[in-house]
Amino acid sequence: MVLPGLWLLLLLLLAGTRWLWGQWKFWNLHLPPLAPGFLHFLQPNLPIYLLGLTRKLGPVYRIRMGLQDVVVLNSNSTIKEALIKKWVDFAGRPTVPYEKLDLDLSRGDYSSTWRTHKKLSRSALMVGMRGSTEPIVEQLTQEFCKRMRAQAGAPVDIHQEFSFLTCSIICYLTFGDKFLPNPGLWKLKRFRENRDRIVKQQLKLHQDSRVAGQWRDMIDYMLQGMEQLSEGHGAGELHEGHVHMSVVDLFIGGTETTATTLSWTVAFLLHHPEIQKRLQEELDLRLGPSGGSSQILYKNRAQLPLLMATIAEVLRLRPVVPLALPHRTTRASSISGYDIPKDTIIIPNIQGANLDETVWELPTQFWPDRFLEPGKSPRTLSFGCGARVCLGEPLAQLELFVILAHLLQAFTLLPPPDGTLPSLKPQNYSGVNLLIHPFQVRLQPRNLAPQDQGQSPLT
Ligand code: HEM
Repeated sequence: MVLPGLWLLLLLLLAGTRWLWGQWKFWNLHLPPLAPGFLHFLQPNLPIYLLGLTRKLGPVYRIRMGLQDVVVLNSNSTIKEALIKKWVDFAGRPTVPYEKLDLDLSRGDYSSTWRTHKKLSRSALMVGMRGSTEPIVEQLTQEFCKRMRAQAGAPVDIHQEFSFLTCSIICYLTFGDKFLPNPGLWKLKRFRENRDRIVKQQLKLHQDSRVAGQWRDMIDYMLQGMEQLSEGHGAGELHEGHVHMSVVDLFIGGTETTATTLSWTVAFLLHHPEIQKRLQEELDLRLGPSGGSSQILYKNRAQLPLLMATIAEVLRLRPVVPLALPHRTTRASSISGYDIPKDTIIIPNIQGANLDETVWELPTQFWPDRFLEPGKSPRTLSFGCGARVCLGEPLAQLELFVILAHLLQAFTLLPPPDGTLPSLKPQNYSGVNLLIHPFQVRLQPRNLAPQDQGQSPLT
């Protein structure tokens, strides 16, 4: 009887010592300053509120969320230190109780399988669709312009139209061309069961009709890549469930984000008709005023510097995923000399960094010309950076360029007859995206001389 009692005592002593050791280690950490109070995350304009806290606390600080600490990074340098320089330490995602996320690309945690999954999805978008993406975006944008022309300058809810267009592009890239135009598919992203049923059907259709060594779209490419991986060097943890979730992520990540950025651009241009006029002059000069019927090639984007600068400025001021997706430290690390323990949740405040006064002159002002200064890079942190950088950045950049070039070449953007301008204040932040308030715009076709409608010099 004595011996088990002694064992129990010893075990308790050991556990107590371990706990004290843990506490001692924690107390000796040099942690970022703690923001006083609890209700920070309920603030309506959260990214700007979080930026405001830096005045007292500096660019890195902690916020209490229940029993957990969340570390917020608010500057270019701290975000890059975490996500680029120490990328493995900060590449994790928080786990969600009772939800299995191991097949998920955007919310799945960092692991070697996740890396293979992201690599395959990225290469499906970049390599698999090389050559076909641009003609698809071009064709669907031309159809969009045709639909808008039929409205004959009546006020339209342009955001709805952009959402349909970007969703159509993703449908085309993933499912192939047989599915368009189909407004029913547009609803796909809204209903989870519907979405999963359609994706499953598509996977089966693709599996049944696939020809070895060929691919028609991204699903074919990923199914083939998955097979090759499993035949090859033991990286065969990927299965059809991963392809399913890639498709879901492409729809979730790839429609509203780009559509909202397009809507923000229209809103800013309605407030700044002088920039719109200069953009149209640039397009007319470089492409000829062809009314949106000629091809506009992305590889020639350097010849449209004001358009590129305008896109960069909208992405800087209204990064649609302003707080990125939450990260998690995969091991103990540090930022700006502060200790960051393993499993800490990290929030990169991208919008905060894009408004950093030490980096940007007149940070809150819409001023595309800032990017026209020699040596000024149009790159901001709006797509994130490092291992978790946005999968769809190349597609989004291509879409923004082609769609806006066509839109501005073919139409003058005007407010509705009562002159109401859209609000530039985002909707209250309620999750992931920086949403714009609904607004209407008139797309007045530009009057073009028939002799001007020839081939563009940029094609
Ligand atoms: C992640 C921005 C368009 C797919 C992200 C992140 C940001 C972002 C900030 C989070 C990065 C992080 O957690 O550190 C944007 C913006 C877009 C856009 C500003 C358009 C203007 C797209 C498109 C697609 C896409 C078109 C798909 C075709 C994804 C995916 C992730 C992601 C799958 C998760 C990546 C990962 O966890 O590794 N995006 N995005 N996004 N985005 Fe985008």
